[in-house]
Amino acid sequence: MNEKQRLESAQINPADQKSEKDYGQYFQAVYQPPSLKDAKKRGKEDISIHRDFHIPEEMNGFGEGKKFLIRTYGCQMNEHDTEIMAGILIEMGYEATNQTEDADIVLLNTCAIRENAENKVFGEIGHLKPLKLKNPNLLIGICGCMSQEESVVNRILQKHSFIDMVFGTHNIHRLPQIVKEAMFSKEMVVEVWSKEGDVIENLPRSRKGSIKAWVNIMYGCDKFCTYCIVPYTRGKERSRQPEDIIQEVRHLAANGYQEVTLLGQNVNAFGKDFTDKKYGLGDLMDELRKIDIPRIRFTTSHPRDFDDHLIDVLSKGGNLMEHIHLPVQSGSTEVLKLMARKYTREHYVELVKKMKEKIPNASFTTDIIVGFPNETDEQFEETMSLYREVEYDTAYTFIYSPREGTPAANMEDNIPMEVKKERLQRLNALVNEIAAKKNLEYQGQVVEVLVEGESKKNPDILAGYTSKNKVVNFRGPKSAIGKIVKVKITQAKTWSLDGEMIEEAVEVI
Ligand code: 5AD
Ligand code: SF4
Repeated sequence: MNEKQRLESAQINPADQKSEKDYGQYFQAVYQPPSLKDAKKRGKEDISIHRDFHIPEEMNGFGEGKKFLIRTYGCQMNEHDTEIMAGILIEMGYEATNQTEDADIVLLNTCAIRENAENKVFGEIGHLKPLKLKNPNLLIGICGCMSQEESVVNRILQKHSFIDMVFGTHNIHRLPQIVKEAMFSKEMVVEVWSKEGDVIENLPRSRKGSIKAWVNIMYGCDKFCTYCIVPYTRGKERSRQPEDIIQEVRHLAANGYQEVTLLGQNVNAFGKDFTDKKYGLGDLMDELRKIDIPRIRFTTSHPRDFDDHLIDVLSKGGNLMEHIHLPVQSGSTEVLKLMARKYTREHYVELVKKMKEKIPNASFTTDIIVGFPNETDEQFEETMSLYREVEYDTAYTFIYSPREGTPAANMEDNIPMEVKKERLQRLNALVNEIAAKKNLEYQGQVVEVLVEGESKKNPDILAGYTSKNKVVNFRGPKSAIGKIVKVKITQAKTWSLDGEMIEEAVEVI
């Protein structure tokens, strides 16, 4: 659709239109459509680091007496972006609420990874419309990965013009200006950049808890797996400077945080974009492990970039957790090739073997897609056999979902839905079987548990995570919350462990 058609279709939609809108004038001024094609064309242009974020003076106290609510969909990266947007709004004087009816601003921080994630958001947009009609001063914004898709932006412009703001993953730091514009212009503010090579430091953050924290180490992804929308929605790979990360982790440790998870869409590519030094994730972890914080994790790894130096550093143990999330996607070399994963089944198995040898007690989890175009029964069986071979603790399993603009979306999606569902069911049965079997090994063992709080089902029970990220429920004093305690496992279930808190460890695994 060209600009003219877009304007016309937006204007011939009187049902949704705000009377004072003049789309024609407005689009020419600010509408920059995100383009998946442009994203793919990106080059190796320099990355600029910005350290000058501040709330414009005229916007200080802008949110005084007002409330905001951010609904988050998708991955940890989105969760963390929500913490940043909350931080910005709080600095502007807004207060958080979890009641939609009380909110003056509602933001949907969206996920584009599969079609059902997008459907959920469009459902929620529909629910918000009556609220907007009741309270015209309410500002509703759509942000996150969906807003980086041209088709989504167009659909919102045409069918949901009561939305006030649409902004992309690269525009988060512009939230104050976007809010101001939306408030005063009464127009839909669309600000989405499709290519972005910047790293913005010193953004405020309102972290969700005080025990565990996320720390971005890099942004974007250049892997372009053929099924995946992320390289387009999150832009090119760009790393934060090691000293900024180290300083953030030190600060978290000083503030009593017990665990950090380093985040990136492809964390093993950390540092590849540095032109002034050779410095990778292994080097970073080697420095971070010296910080006095009990637990350090990272996600998500790409098998192709997992190098020996990182494995050597992880084998030093200490506060580096031995749980590795290593998405495999398929156990068939032919399917991996179609997915452009850039490794074979043999490479992957070899890598896992090496890690198991070098990292005592290493445990693995993974992501798997079933029903990729042309996946045969035999190829699916190869995924099943790989799963048995690696013996993952657990896996996130998905039915392939074509994403417009990705290379796989041009392949014929030729596996019938019943077959995809049947494969998923069989795989999930195997995931459960192995999870239960592996949990049984914990029976009678003593584990270290970082206690996060009361269990959701029973306030008398505390819940926390082991170093391998297993949930443990046990009776214990509330004073244990936020601490690492030793728990003897009394009962192993498929997805959690029950135990008793003990004074002294018998044996720690
Ligand atoms: N369809 C299904 N699953 C997908 N994933 C990414 N893109 C798709 C898609 N188009 C899965 C991959 C990835 C996880 C985050 O989501 O397994 O590792
Ligand atoms: Fe998507 Fe991960 Fe592949 Fe990047 S490495 S394209 S985020 S699946």
